[in-house]
Amino acid sequence: MRSFGTPVADVLGEQIAATLSDPATTHGLARALRATARELELHRHHLAGRRSRPDGRIGQRPARVQIGGGGHRIGGFFNIDAVPPADLLWDVREGLPLHDDSVGLLFSEHFLEHIDYPRSAKRYAAEAHRVLAPGGRIITGVPDAAFALGGYYGPLDPVEETMRRWYGRRDCRPHINTRLDLVNLVFRDQDDDPHYTPHLWAYDHEKLVQLFTEAGFGAVEPWDFDEALANPKRRWGSVYVTATK
Ligand SMILES: C[S@@+](CC[C@H](N)C(=O)[O-])C[C@H]1O[C@@H](n2cnc3c(N)ncnc32)[C@H](O)[C@@H]1O
Repeated sequence: MRSFGTPVADVLGEQIAATLSDPATTHGLARALRATARELELHRHHLAGRRSRPDGRIGQRPARVQIGGGGHRIGGFFNIDAVPPADLLWDVREGLPLHDDSVGLLFSEHFLEHIDYPRSAKRYAAEAHRVLAPGGRIITGVPDAAFALGGYYGPLDPVEETMRRWYGRRDCRPHINTRLDLVNLVFRDQDDDPHYTPHLWAYDHEKLVQLFTEAGFGAVEPWDFDEALANPKRRWGSVYVTATK
């Protein structure tokens, strides 16, 4: 039996698995239970990482940290993610397990939109400000909601190009074929991803600037896409900013 970290979570996990395997379970309940099962999995990973760090801080002081990199690891960076593979499995909604004023560069792309706003997104920005050394930078990339919304009244060609690039190899592609479907995906993508939460909030340049300015960052500027750090497949339709402490 897989342990979810606490006796209550273990019982819940077993009950969810049993209910999901019951053919009488309705579609709506199954959706809700799959989302809960996903959170239980993140909870299990997080508690396992937390158990050996009761003060919520790792022993190392990495100078460069990537958050939510998934399979896109960057050489020389310490990778923190909620699910494998990563150097540390940690649910960033619970804060960053890093020491104050210790990090030179924090990088994330296509991660921020997967955590809830305002609670977790603002906490992430505040935590980034806490852990960065003076002069340290946080680079953040997200799907550009302005890009998808801008396409709504325009010609279909660029929208189709976006759908082909973003969703061409995914099961959802046959269902994503109008301008509004693309707008919906900015807000709801990966609703059924078994590993982590779907898109929960949409961002554009203005929203990113506001988020990091409110967290105390002095300068928040556009970041020029650089494949030495960024995942090449994120070049299309994304917006990045760099904020300096
Ligand atoms: C869409 S993937 C992006 C992966 C990679 N950055 C890229 O651009 O290809 C989102 C990543 O954010 C991570 N993530 C989502 N919620 C998280 C959380 N609460 N704490 C830590 N990582 C999280 C996921 O596990 C996943 O690896």
